[in-house]
Amino acid sequence: MSSTTAALDLATIQQLERDHQPPLYAKREIALVRGEGSYLFDSDGNRYLDAMSNYGVAVLGHADPEFAAALTDQLQTLTTGHQSFYSDVRAVLLRAIAGIAPEGMTRFFLSNSGAEAIEAALKFARAATGRPKIVAAKRGYHGRTLGALAATADPKYRTPFEPLGIPVTHVAFGDIDALTGAVDEQTAAVILEPIQGEGGIYPASDEYLQAVRALTTERGALLIVDEVQSGFRTGAPFAVSRSGVIPDLLCTAKGLANGFPIGLTIATEAVAGDLAPGTHGTTFGGNPLACRAALATLTILRQRDLYTRVTRLGDEIVARIEALQSPKVRQVRGRGFMIGIELKGRVTPTLRALQQQGVLALPAGPVTLRLLPPMIWEDEQIDELIDALGTVLSERNSD
Ligand SMILES: Cc1ncc(COP(=O)(O)O)c(C=O)c1O
Repeated sequence: MSSTTAALDLATIQQLERDHQPPLYAKREIALVRGEGSYLFDSDGNRYLDAMSNYGVAVLGHADPEFAAALTDQLQTLTTGHQSFYSDVRAVLLRAIAGIAPEGMTRFFLSNSGAEAIEAALKFARAATGRPKIVAAKRGYHGRTLGALAATADPKYRTPFEPLGIPVTHVAFGDIDALTGAVDEQTAAVILEPIQGEGGIYPASDEYLQAVRALTTERGALLIVDEVQSGFRTGAPFAVSRSGVIPDLLCTAKGLANGFPIGLTIATEAVAGDLAPGTHGTTFGGNPLACRAALATLTILRQRDLYTRVTRLGDEIVARIEALQSPKVRQVRGRGFMIGIELKGRVTPTLRALQQQGVLALPAGPVTLRLLPPMIWEDEQIDELIDALGTVLSERNSD
């Protein structure tokens, strides 16, 4: 903890945030001040099991010594640098991304967030096709900047800001006939999450993704896969790879740099090989510190074999939640460390009860409890989670 924050108690922290932030977030009472591995600590020293990794970001958990050492070294070497200059650490990161990108996807645009990764994809799709329209999925979430918002489905986010600049049609997720009816000669791209995150943790079937690929190719539209949330945590760098589908554009962010802000838009040569200089860009994107953070994250994920681990442990978590046989649970869905527990009632009381049990998890829509744990979890953390879920989902505990 730094000397500038050491003196603040919870009431002071809350008052300052209430006074000076626009009231855009429903706050969760506690102030998080420190993290260590799979645990977070609040301003009163209480410890929480982190089952959310800041909405899927902290894949290596908190204060990882190897990650911290890499960033410290880069801070003492070079922090900032524009993409109009070459950079050694950026070049090495691009080589590492080439090692995980789907086959034939060779152009990588670096930015600073998930929404920025989506904005770039939407612009590149329009530039490559000369077409204006986008087709997206109901329940889909792609961010809240104006372009990404146009693709996001929920009226709660969209309505106050309409009209949105991009014509977007939203069709039922998983319904290839609906998509076939919506994609026409004016469609620049179809954008989809391979596993819908915010919408409630709904994995697309491999057959659906394959059919979407065939349809878009046939109609001259591009396929944008949004892996901002599903990236890195489902047993492979990208969830779409299981289906064998190679998109035209793939967006990721969150877990890529383990908490350092970053966005990445991966594109084929055909889409991004000839973009005119200056048609897109960002001051911060691709800076040496962000590149070093991403490089350290990708290296550690591979060296510690964390992709394999989350496949095994994710299956175990799902099986153990199902074995609780809770009368409150309708369905458990997900892959790797991206898991949704659909409840029969609203999720908020259960999240609150879990927090009281010392576990921080997330909602995904009104009735689904979402788990996005750090990928470093071991059996001990799973035991803690299941104990807490057993308590809050038991019949006795009636909200
Ligand atoms: C699938 C998906 N796309 C895009 C975004 C937007 O990312 P960001 O919040 O970094 O702008 C999110 C964020 O939750 C997301 O889950």
